[in-house]
Amino acid sequence: MKRVLAFGASSSKASINRKFAIYAANAIENVEVEILDLNDFEMPIFSVDRENENGIHPLAYKFKEHIKAADGILISFAEHNAAYSAAYKNIYDWASRIEKSFFYDKPLCLLATSPGARGGARVLDIAFNAYSFANKNLVTKFSLPSFSQNFKEGEGLVNSELKDALFTELEKFKAAL
Ligand SMILES: Cc1cc2nc3c(=O)[nH]c(=O)nc-3n(C[C@H](O)[C@H](O)[C@H](O)COP(=O)(O)O)c2cc1C
Repeated sequence: MKRVLAFGASSSKASINRKFAIYAANAIENVEVEILDLNDFEMPIFSVDRENENGIHPLAYKFKEHIKAADGILISFAEHNAAYSAAYKNIYDWASRIEKSFFYDKPLCLLATSPGARGGARVLDIAFNAYSFANKNLVTKFSLPSFSQNFKEGEGLVNSELKDALFTELEKFKAAL
């Protein structure tokens, strides 16, 4: 069975992106899902000086091991000031120092959601542009606006148009695994 690694790119305990990532990953049939919590990979803020003094942080290697073990990666990005959350960016910076390929050309399903009408579209564009340029495999994306109106605990996506659009992207992702 194919393995999907999923996480919300946020360190918030109540992260809506974590909820959305778990929902989307579990909606893919016949795959094994592993969920990561970015809080398990909290490291000092990356700096080249820290790296020169102490080497790459061990948690960055641990993070990459999870990526390596997966057939595809599904991430839902929290948007902080139109960009990645600091929690995600720090892990990305540390782990990007290990080797050139960050996602090993594995299929990527990039999602974002926010309480507002733009649904994290700006951070999603940043991620999509960066990773679709670097990745030789499929990179798919979907943004969910107005999270609390469109997503209900225990029910998931309640807006059928948005649900269809998400599931179309999930099908593409699954086919690429
Ligand atoms: C520091 C900070 C900056 C934020 N900047 C944005 C933003 O640029 N755009 C946006 O739509 N929401 C922004 N928000 C609101 C987040 O979308 C909201 O907190 C959301 O719940 C974050 O996702 P999470 O729950 O998965 O952490 C910001 C929130 C914080 C704490």
